Amino acid sequence: MGVSEPPHTTILIQADAIAARVMALAAEIAQDYAGRELHLVGVMRGALYFLADLSRALQAEDAGALTFDWIELSSYRGGTESTGNVEVTRDLIDPVDGRHVLVIEDIVDSGHTMTFLVALLQARGAATVEVCALLDKPARRRAPNLQVRYIGFRIEDQFVLGYGMDLDERHRALPYIAVVAAKPE
Ligand code: IMP
Ligand code: MG
Repeated sequence: MGVSEPPHTTILIQADAIAARVMALAAEIAQDYAGRELHLVGVMRGALYFLADLSRALQAEDAGALTFDWIELSSYRGGTESTGNVEVTRDLIDPVDGRHVLVIEDIVDSGHTMTFLVALLQARGAATVEVCALLDKPARRRAPNLQVRYIGFRIEDQFVLGYGMDLDERHRALPYIAVVAAKPE
């Protein structure tokens, strides 16, 4: 039995296209971080599969010492748009001071969440902080100073789900990324 498809969606990015892009990102990251120990910080819960696949692709690139940790953030949403009021709802386990941190995020929308997290990691003394996002919605950006170093795919202003991303906590385990036909309120 296959994965049941949620209603009113169309596939935007197939599983094999995600896998190919993850491999290419891993090759680029491994080259950039050659000779440095890389510490991935995954943002729960949406980055679950992206971090799982990317970290294994990095291992296959023989990227050297590789560690990862998780943080969960919540951002108050006024309607569909997040605000700058971001909170840590589950914190990291390991300290980041002196480490080369690469944040692994599912999607950058307004950019408020990543702006908050980059500042937090810098304040905690990380040696370097960069962001790797599977998806980017540049049309929605409200934080112009945010630098996203690695981007899997740039997409239009559409609500997406699958491959870790949810609609009301559902559909995260779909192997592909789908677009919701009508935007949720
Ligand atoms: P930002 O702070 O506006 O950049 O919000 C980023 C967060 O909003 C991401 O970590 C996602 O959890 C969530 N998000 C934004 N757009 C989507 C989407 O299209 N589908 C699922 N989650 C989304
Ligand atoms: Mg998220």
